[in-house]
Amino acid sequence: PIHSATVSAPTNIACIKYWGKASSHYNTPINDSLSLTLDQADLRAVTTASCCKCFTEDKLWLNGKEVQMNASTLKRFRACVDGIRALASDKVDDITHQIVVTRSEWETMPVHIASYNNFPTAAGLASSAAGYAALVASLVALYDAREEYPGQFSAIARQGSGSACRSLYGGFVAWRAGGEREDWSDSIAEPVVDEMHWEEIRAVILVVSNKEKETSSTKGMETSVTTSRLLEYRAKHVVPQRMKEIEKAIQEKDFESFGKVTMMDSNQFHATCLDTYPPIFYMNDVSKSVVTMVHVYNEWAEEIRAAYTFDAGPNAVLYTLEKYQVELLALVLRYYPEVGEGYVNNSELRKEAME
Ligand code: DP6
Repeated sequence: PIHSATVSAPTNIACIKYWGKASSHYNTPINDSLSLTLDQADLRAVTTASCCKCFTEDKLWLNGKEVQMNASTLKRFRACVDGIRALASDKVDDITHQIVVTRSEWETMPVHIASYNNFPTAAGLASSAAGYAALVASLVALYDAREEYPGQFSAIARQGSGSACRSLYGGFVAWRAGGEREDWSDSIAEPVVDEMHWEEIRAVILVVSNKEKETSSTKGMETSVTTSRLLEYRAKHVVPQRMKEIEKAIQEKDFESFGKVTMMDSNQFHATCLDTYPPIFYMNDVSKSVVTMVHVYNEWAEEIRAAYTFDAGPNAVLYTLEKYQVELLALVLRYYPEVGEGYVNNSELRKEAME
């Protein structure tokens, strides 16, 4: 028989950015980071993990096409498959209650992974986060895997892609850099509040470009770590304080502080990219005009109603509160009319904003 499980995972958008690896072997960061996991609606990956004695080897398909894995992808893929499989349980038949696959038998069966995502891969919308989180979650479901300590699954997802570890939880999630333990098993994600804690928060995504980004984050942060003194300073002297500030802001639902820290951290991340040698430019002119628009809007409102953040690409993510979302969308549609019909995926909201 073929055993299989299908699971989906949403992407997450960082407010305090992960940029720079402490260990490339364990894929661990030089600083803590914090993000919001989006709802299961739009930006997500859906993954099916199957295994069978009848398969000849492990295989991976992405959006229907088989992936020929290079050394780096293979290492990430293996870390996830082997990591979760090592935590497998016996498979018990629902009806007969008989063990149908023993823990150790799982290892004799190759696994086939088929993953789909419904948004531009590598356009800097952290699709690797959803991708590897869905991979790990599908394997957990397939093998009925159990954690030996809280956060262990996230430590495995981290080895697929750093940002993926945060997508295993909903709501606001912190990734603690770790490093006290030799094997980096303390580099794990954890929710900072209950998933339902701040339900009024909204993320508006402006797809400025869906082209593949020019410098992958893995490659980019490698160059930043070796050349940017600003990055070193940031990791040591800026992020620890910001993590405290933003966690407090989230706990107190203080959008003013949350928004300010988020924007400043995005700006500093892009400043470290500029400080990288040779420099990396992720934001383009449209991205920069979005920054200006948000500041003009907040000045007009005399309070922070929207906050922007940019990852390793030109696309903008705007955080706002439910009560300002129509106002903000109206502004976006006025300045970026090309984001019109068909692009605002929530048609009701769009209609309201157009009026
Ligand atoms: C700018 O998680 O894609 O989105 O660990 O090498 O796979 P790897 O990197 P990745 O980097 C994401 C960087 C970022 C910031 C963030 O999500 O925190």
